[in-house]
Amino acid sequence: MSSNDTLKVAVIGGDGTGPEVAAEGVKVLEAIAKLEGIEYELDHFDFGGDRYLRTGEILPDGAKETLATFDAILLGAVGHPDVAPGILEKGLLLELRFHFDQYINLRPVKLYPGVETPLADKKPDDIDFVVVRENTEDLYAGMGGFLKKHTPDEVAMQTAVYTRKGCERCIRWAFEYTRKRNKRKHLTLVAKTNVLTYGHDLWWRTFQEVGREYADIEKDYNHVDACCMWMVKNPEYYDVIVTTNMFGDIITDLGGIIQGGMGVAAGGNINPEPGGTSMFEPMGGSAPKYTGKNVINPIATIAAVAMLLEQAGHQQAAERVTNAIQAVTGTKMKSQSAGKMGYGTTEVGDLVCEAL
Ligand code: IPM
Ligand code: MN
Repeated sequence: MSSNDTLKVAVIGGDGTGPEVAAEGVKVLEAIAKLEGIEYELDHFDFGGDRYLRTGEILPDGAKETLATFDAILLGAVGHPDVAPGILEKGLLLELRFHFDQYINLRPVKLYPGVETPLADKKPDDIDFVVVRENTEDLYAGMGGFLKKHTPDEVAMQTAVYTRKGCERCIRWAFEYTRKRNKRKHLTLVAKTNVLTYGHDLWWRTFQEVGREYADIEKDYNHVDACCMWMVKNPEYYDVIVTTNMFGDIITDLGGIIQGGMGVAAGGNINPEPGGTSMFEPMGGSAPKYTGKNVINPIATIAAVAMLLEQAGHQQAAERVTNAIQAVTGTKMKSQSAGKMGYGTTEVGDLVCEAL
């Protein structure tokens, strides 16, 4: 947080439909700030594929230092059809997550009223849990290499890195979050201790040790494969899940689809420490084929704005945005899929503002 009371938000629209959804997020942020009397400052940054193709740099010199002066970053999307996969993801998204030590990736899986889920007979009450994904370690650490590359004897290694500090701070945060959420007070560690007998043994032991400080929280464990099954069969089983980076990536796409698709799934990359810069984003990609057509769903980005407000300490504003989203999905939108919403991107943003 900045030293004064002004909420400083850096907006990175990014690629494809990113700028369109970011604009609706900003629209809602401006509307709620006015209603709640929140002082804020916005700055826009043109980082992304187009700039990279023009200049050859992803984050120009000094960019991270500048972003560090903001309380939060609102990110639209990364991924450009003319840039090889991995370049922007690594150079922008992962770079910012690591640089700002955003060690929590918070991904709520919540079925809003009126939203269709592919799970038969499941209602909003059944699909309402949160995944706390560790966001700085594991296979994402980028450790590895090749031996005898491009030969028939080629070897490729990719190392999963787990540290005591890394898993402990994530697990502890998840326990605190489960307590604060105050729903079923049930925290499930999701890992693969039967195969990853070193790395996930560290997670398991740390979960047990930290868990002793949280007598009020029910502690549970699922292997990740079983978790995928339960998420589909009995999503109501979950309250909060804490998991490693790679498994968290995978199960939150499953979470995204059971909550109605990438049009509604939002996430926060959080550095919870004082002075930390956090980053909020819709989980969906840059959807190049929908770019500029005013058909993409901005609900996920607006939900990301609600998370941003909550993290910045504006609890009531966050709740108002979440309630407005639910009013719009529940009574106005025909579908959450791009082009089928019954409204354009900008109209959905307007509807949320009206519902505030
Ligand atoms: C996500 C994405 C990223 C990840 C990619 C784009 C690097 O899939 O935010 O879940 O793997 O974390
Ligand atoms: Mn992912």
